[in-house]
Amino acid sequence: MKPEGLKTQIFLDSGDPKETKEMLDLLGFLDGQTTNPSLFAKSPEVQEKISKGEKYTKEEIYAEYKKIIQDISALIPGKSVSVEVYADANTSAEEMLKQAREMNTWIDSAHIKLPLTSEGLKAAETLVREGVDVNMTLIFNQSQAAGVYAATNGAKKGQVFLSPFIGRLDDIDLDGMSYIKNVLKMYRAGDGHVEVLAASARSYEHFLRCLQLESDLVTVPGKILREWAENNFELPSEDWQYEPGDLAPIPYEDMDLNKNYMQYNIQHDLTDKGIEKFVADWNNLLV
Ligand code: E4P
Repeated sequence: MKPEGLKTQIFLDSGDPKETKEMLDLLGFLDGQTTNPSLFAKSPEVQEKISKGEKYTKEEIYAEYKKIIQDISALIPGKSVSVEVYADANTSAEEMLKQAREMNTWIDSAHIKLPLTSEGLKAAETLVREGVDVNMTLIFNQSQAAGVYAATNGAKKGQVFLSPFIGRLDDIDLDGMSYIKNVLKMYRAGDGHVEVLAASARSYEHFLRCLQLESDLVTVPGKILREWAENNFELPSEDWQYEPGDLAPIPYEDMDLNKNYMQYNIQHDLTDKGIEKFVADWNNLLV
């Protein structure tokens, strides 16, 4: 049951439709779901084939992804489901657009996930103009978030999600939660056309802190939602404190949101590594 006073939309981060069903039964609601190539590769349907020593052709892999996305969407009709394009560091905007337009026909309520490369930003600009919803992923600093804001200026509310990654910043000893706070602060000075979908949440405390910060949306694995249910769908009190331990806080930077989007420095090593990992997980499934 959705607790009264909850400001944040709750998404499941999973490539498994069975988990969608389980979470719907447990929570009584889900506001949407995110997938990515690694989550797709872990999906039981995919794993069953791989465990038999079989692999996919390029056509088959898209057909399998489409089926999984359609199965998820059928369980949460009208709710956003993020579908990620296949892109490596050299994938052109044209190639991303081709995939995005096709994936957007799979279900009625897709957000097309694009990685934050300069070609990804170009593709986002075009898709938003075409009326396609996008979710910009692998975001690790404010400059990248500002670039997304600028590239998608004019989008309707709900059309653009930004996925800043918490856990992968924690992994390099930076406080990912302080970064979420910074992006929310920066965007709150804007017109609200990009919504923050806090991602890469690894702990129940990450989740609670996202609710406390009133992130627009948060996506979390099923195990965190199970823990939330065990805690009667609690909301953190005002005096509850997130403890980052030894993680170094990320300072807030004042940033102009109204430059030409090509002027923002969007390079980040974690984005590059994230793209490599998604590519590797996807390619491992191919013959
Ligand atoms: C969802 O949109 C993200 O791809 C996901 O939350 C990444 O999580 P991870 O950093 O735990 O892989």
